[in-house]
Amino acid sequence: MQRFLTESYSETVALGERLGKTLKGGEVLAMFGGMGMGKTAFTTGVAKGMGLSCEVSSPTFAIVNVYGKNGELCHFDMYRVSTWDDLDSTGFFDYMAQGAVLCVEWSENIENALPATAVHITFEKGDTENARVITVDGIEANL
Ligand SMILES: Nc1ncnc2c1ncn2[C@@H]1O[C@H](COP(=O)(O)OP(=O)(O)OP(=O)(O)O)[C@@H](O)[C@H]1O
Ligand SMILES: [Mg+2]
Repeated sequence: MQRFLTESYSETVALGERLGKTLKGGEVLAMFGGMGMGKTAFTTGVAKGMGLSCEVSSPTFAIVNVYGKNGELCHFDMYRVSTWDDLDSTGFFDYMAQGAVLCVEWSENIENALPATAVHITFEKGDTENARVITVDGIEANL
């Protein structure tokens, strides 16, 4: 497991970007941690690292936003998802089968449906207002 401390929005974006650069497609990035902890910021970085020039915003109402010409990155917000049927209707399993990278906010809500290979990323508040402690578990590369 790798553990990081970021002290600003842009440091969290930069960390996501470093991870994004290592991705080959098909990875599930399962993000855990409360509101305003930086999951969307991190996903913004992942998109950058994958070479996607898109505006990443919270998929709270849509549940999923798909980025890239070929849908290379799918960004989920599972905050309101609680049943298997809910999850299935988001397209989660279809997008996974297509080999997209999946960034999943509120993975707490779908933990049982995550593949064994999912990368676990946790976000917690640090000692100061803008500090975030971020752990990444399940990748080979050093970020
Ligand atoms: N170190 C930091 N990393 C990321 N964001 C930070 C940091 N310090 C302060 N912030 C602020 O915290 C907020 C993080 O918002 P973000 O949308 O990324 O959170 P989130 O985890 O996706 O929340 P939600 O669960 O509501 O979707 C932003 O307003 C950002 O400016
Ligand atoms: Mg978010």
